[in-house]
Amino acid sequence: MFKLLIYHILFCMIVVVTSASFIAKTPQNSFNQPFHPTTKLYGSYAQSINGPGHVANIELNTNISSINPDSFEYVQNIQCGQDGIITLTLSNEAAFHDIPNWPSKVIILVSDKWKCFGQSTTQFYLIGNQSIDETKRQVNFTSEPCEVLKWTESYSFDLAWDQSIKPIKKRTKNLYLRDFDQQTKIDLDILFDSKTGSSSQPNFKFSIGQNNISESLVCKNCFTKGSATIGLHVSGTPLNITNATISISGNLSINVDVAVSTSVTIQKFSTPDIQIVEIPLTVLNVPGLFNLGPALILVANAKVDSSLTGILNTGGEISFSNFQFQASLIDKKTNVTGFDKPQFKSHKLSTDIKASVGVSGTLKPQLALDLSVLNGLVSLKTGIQIESTLGITASIGNGNSCKKNNQLNLKSTLNGDLGFFVQNFVEPIFTFPSLDLGSLCL
Ligand SMILES: *[C@@H]1O[C@H](CO)[C@@H](O)[C@H](O)[C@H]1NC(C)=O
Ligand SMILES: *[C@@H]1O[C@H](CO)[C@@H](O)[C@H](O)[C@H]1NC(C)=O
Ligand SMILES: *[C@@H]1O[C@H](CO)[C@@H](O)[C@H](O)[C@H]1NC(C)=O
Ligand SMILES: *[C@@H]1O[C@H](CO)[C@@H](O)[C@H](O)[C@H]1NC(C)=O
Ligand SMILES: *[C@@H]1O[C@H](CO)[C@@H](O)[C@H](O)[C@H]1NC(C)=O
Ligand SMILES: *[C@@H]1O[C@H](CO)[C@@H](O)[C@H](O)[C@H]1NC(C)=O
Ligand SMILES: *[C@@H]1O[C@H](CO)[C@@H](O)[C@H](O)[C@H]1NC(C)=O
Ligand SMILES: *[C@@H]1O[C@H](CO)[C@@H](O)[C@H](O)[C@H]1NC(C)=O
Repeated sequence: MFKLLIYHILFCMIVVVTSASFIAKTPQNSFNQPFHPTTKLYGSYAQSINGPGHVANIELNTNISSINPDSFEYVQNIQCGQDGIITLTLSNEAAFHDIPNWPSKVIILVSDKWKCFGQSTTQFYLIGNQSIDETKRQVNFTSEPCEVLKWTESYSFDLAWDQSIKPIKKRTKNLYLRDFDQQTKIDLDILFDSKTGSSSQPNFKFSIGQNNISESLVCKNCFTKGSATIGLHVSGTPLNITNATISISGNLSINVDVAVSTSVTIQKFSTPDIQIVEIPLTVLNVPGLFNLGPALILVANAKVDSSLTGILNTGGEISFSNFQFQASLIDKKTNVTGFDKPQFKSHKLSTDIKASVGVSGTLKPQLALDLSVLNGLVSLKTGIQIESTLGITASIGNGNSCKKNNQLNLKSTLNGDLGFFVQNFVEPIFTFPSLDLGSLCL
């Protein structure tokens, strides 16, 4: 019975923390560090305590002394009580002897986990007027509100992927234990059903509201699957962002199977871009310090360049493994690897159409990132987009590669472009080689 109860409590805690943000990290060798404020306010956070996962580091250079109590292993508790009193409980006696030497005003960073004055985001205060109670191992400070940017000369923020798996430290106060198998990468699955290995929304229509066309031209089995990790570096002064660099690494495959099936003749047409889905993903954040909200968006369009009757099926899969994308959000310079040699598979090509025609279907999966650092001091929208176009041409007559003049030559190709965007600025960065998915003489 008792055991059950413990499991229940543990389960609840995991759920709560999983849906929350990064965890403040405490350096494990910091027990003997002197308890001194400095002018470097440093905070370190991890998505998962045992890894692998993203880690975030923030550093503010302040023009008065500042301290982050989470950087000291012996700071056991922070309470924010009545009359603005902030009480720290310390397990290292020597640390108490350092406090009387503190300046009269010190910036303190109180991370979201302490829920200071009922707040669930990172808070900054100016503290002073210390009073120590060594028997209780506590020190009280009075506090004033602090607009930290007023005291910040420069800042830097870094986000990186950490592949390492750390041993679970057995600690009684470890309330922040996480589910080991938690997915910490950014999931790039769009319309992908892992149980069937194919689209969760088969036969979605390219066009909405266009009579009859929508019924006859569908994305039979279209989805993307993959995962990515994100790196970021943002630094500057409160008035000027001097560097903002983003990197995205991962694996992605895009499956496009298009089908046309029409018993009546449809006229040539082209559809505008239609947003098929937008999937908001788990936010990477340290409340009050930074917020990165990723979303996956799938846009599609289609074109038929002459009238058409009949059935047409074609498709393929294009995959990029271990791609790396890096871009400076300031000067828009990019560095991309892993997109130049995609692997591809072609799917069956079949038709009963009788005339020359060109049909194409385009899928544009987009990974969009909404970044905010220090409550909007830095606020950017950025991301990458792959535009993959499956084109089918059927031609009759001279100039096609079939033996007989009246034979229908059916060709299917997959083309792609990689682009990136910052705010409303879109930059094409790469066109991967056109892939020949096959050709038939009918
Ligand atoms: C310290 O106490 C004085 C007098 O009560 C007060 O004016 C001041 O704001 C306090 N300092 C801080 C940092 O809270
Ligand atoms: C610290 O503040 C708490 C109330 O917030 C009070 O009970 C305690 O006596 C104070 N300790 C010292 C040393 O001032
Ligand atoms: C530094 O401190 C002074 C007050 O001592 C303040 O006026 C100034 O705005 C602060 N911030 C920076 C970035 O220098
Ligand atoms: C759509 O198809 C219906 C019959 O299925 C036909 O009556 C109608 O005229 C068609 N509309 C267009 C725009 O082709
Ligand atoms: C902003 O930073 C850039 C790059 O370091 C520098 O060239 C520029 O002069 C800075 N602008 C201001 C207003 O400080
Ligand atoms: C900007 O940050 C990136 C990533 O940390 C680094 O590689 C690059 O050299 C920096 N650029 C400048 C101009 O400092
Ligand atoms: C991509 O796949 C490779 C090999 O399968 C793997 O080592 C790597 O961790 C993957 N990257 C991501 C971001 O999933
Ligand atoms: C581009 O990225 C690759 C691999 O990530 C790296 O080796 C290379 O130095 C980078 N080039 C530039 C110009 O930054």
